Order: sequence, then C-alpha cells, then structure tokens
Amino acid sequence: MSIYLSKNEQARFLGRHILSIADFTPEDIHIVFKLAGYFEDYVKNRIQMDLMKGLILATLFFEPSTRTRLSFETGMLRLGGSVINATGTSSSLEKGESFQDMGKVVSRFADVMVLRHPLESSIHQFAEGSSVPVINAGNGSNEHPTQALLDLYSIWHGRVQTKNLKIGFVGDLKFGRAAHSITKLLGLYKTHFYFISHPTLRMPPEITKQVKAQGCKVTETENLADTIKDLDVLYVTRVQKERFTDLSTYEAVKSCYRIDPQMMKKANLSLSLLHPLPRLDEIAVEVDKDPRARYFEQVTNGVAIRMALLALVSGRLAEPAGEKTIGF
Ligand code: NCD
Repeated sequence: MSIYLSKNEQARFLGRHILSIADFTPEDIHIVFKLAGYFEDYVKNRIQMDLMKGLILATLFFEPSTRTRLSFETGMLRLGGSVINATGTSSSLEKGESFQDMGKVVSRFADVMVLRHPLESSIHQFAEGSSVPVINAGNGSNEHPTQALLDLYSIWHGRVQTKNLKIGFVGDLKFGRAAHSITKLLGLYKTHFYFISHPTLRMPPEITKQVKAQGCKVTETENLADTIKDLDVLYVTRVQKERFTDLSTYEAVKSCYRIDPQMMKKANLSLSLLHPLPRLDEIAVEVDKDPRARYFEQVTNGVAIRMALLALVSGRLAEPAGEKTIGF
C-alpha cells in the first residue's frame, strides 16, 4: 500500500523547519499522528520502505543522545533514506565556525537536518543558514519539540480520554526541555497541570502563564504523595545535572522525588507513567513491570513520529498525478 497526502496537507509541511512546538496546530498534530500510526507497523515489524530512497539525513549532535539520535537515524533508514552525521569535536564548530555557516554548508550535502546543541539560539541560527528543513532535537534547556509529539502520541495511544487530562510533572521543571515542550503542546487541549517540584526547580513562570492564558488549570505543589491519586498521567523527569553551574546545588535537589512500588500503590489504576529517559534514580527499576509504566513504549513511538516528520518535511508524500489518495 502507498500513502499520499492531499496538496493542502502536504503544503503545511513541505520544506518546513521544526524548531518549536508552538508552531504546531491541532490540524498539524492530527496529520503527524495519522502518519505515525501508518508507520508504526513498519517500525514494529522492522520493515524497510523506499519512500525516502535517494535522500540524506544529517544528524548533528553536540550533546549526549541515545534515543533521539538513534530514532531519527533508524526512522530515516526504515524509510529507505541514508544518514550522515557530525558530533562534538568532529565538526568545524570547534574551530569557531558559526551556526549559520554550518547550516549553509551541511544543507549542501543533506536533504534534511537534525540538530541538538546546548545553546538556545543555535537552532534558529542554523536554520537561518540552511536551505533544507531543520529539526530541533533539543536546544539547551529550552525546547524538544519532537519529544513532545511522541509524548502526546503516547498519552493518546490506545486511550479514549483526551479532554480535561490531569497530568502531573515531577522533577526538574526548570531545566527540563522535554517537560517545557509537552506542557506547551498540552496547552492546546484544556489540560489540568500539576507541577510538582522543589521550589528551586519550578516550571518557568512564562510557560505557566501561557497555559493559564489558554484556559488550562495549574496547580503547583511540592507534594507528590498527596497528588498522585488525582492524575491520569505522571510525567517524570531527570534532574538535569549538566545545566547546574554549582554541583552542590544539584546534589541538594537531585533525589527529592522517587517513584517506587509504594508510591505506585497510591496512584490510579489507569495512570500512565511517562519519562523521556534517560532515568537515573527517579523511577525504581521494580516499577518497570507495572503495566502503568509506559516509558519504553514512548521510545518505540518516537521512531514512528520521527518517520512521519521526516517524510512530511521532505515532500515525499505528495500525490503523484493520476494516483488516488489513500488514507488521508
Ligand atoms: C531528554 C532530553 O535530552 O532532553 N532525553 C531525550 O531526548 N529522550 C531528557 C533528559 O535528558 O533528561
């Protein structure tokens, strides 16, 4: 079976940079999720397609990554495309090259590019220089839009409820870019947020203000044990050691929260326990066998979501003349 998008749907994404989750409308999300649903079978059955044959993805990672980088690369290979990459000291950024120039240069090699860098402004400068679509895989503590899409996809996957979701975020809400992006995305859907953190690691006030302005409810607390029973979803995050300037401050807050089987007893039977991973001590390993633990499912969903994004921005889903649109 082949899959094509209508001209209108295709036009929404063709050549588009994916820099912030704020650029996504509910209609965009619908298209991405439908397409990811289609690709899921290819991911689960480990089948290669030829949709992106002849196209090259460049992955440029200047911070550690396992899931994000490998899921983009796996996704591109499953779509039939090829992958090139640059990391840390192997690139001319080390020699002082600007992000704009790097964007100009690498877009002469690749058809789509994915960048992760600790500087917030890096992604915008890189995209300015680029003549091909650029996808943000994490810019400092600011945003991680593709993680937000796979998180929402995982929340909705196989579940009926979508309205008035009660979601708790626990851990490092100050520096956690994954938590920032999924919060902004859920701002579109009248969510009730419970931000659970140490007072020094609270959700940035501008994000809290934004979701309130969108009509969402926000409850801020330090108490996980009393809050967990009210939640449909609990999104756990790692305290982001690499963002602290002073290690003693990190040591003081790194172990404030831990989800263990005792804590899970207080939670709803239908809770979804999510985590973008990597996990340190914030979720006990014994919790992995609890059917409510869905963080490894998120990893698989990440491949299908990234395949959808790669296919959408590269224009390989345009309906060829004379062919019938299937599925969309
Ligand atoms: C997250 C990240 O890099 O922001 N990881 C990921 O991409 N899955 C979360 C983290 O590192 O804690």
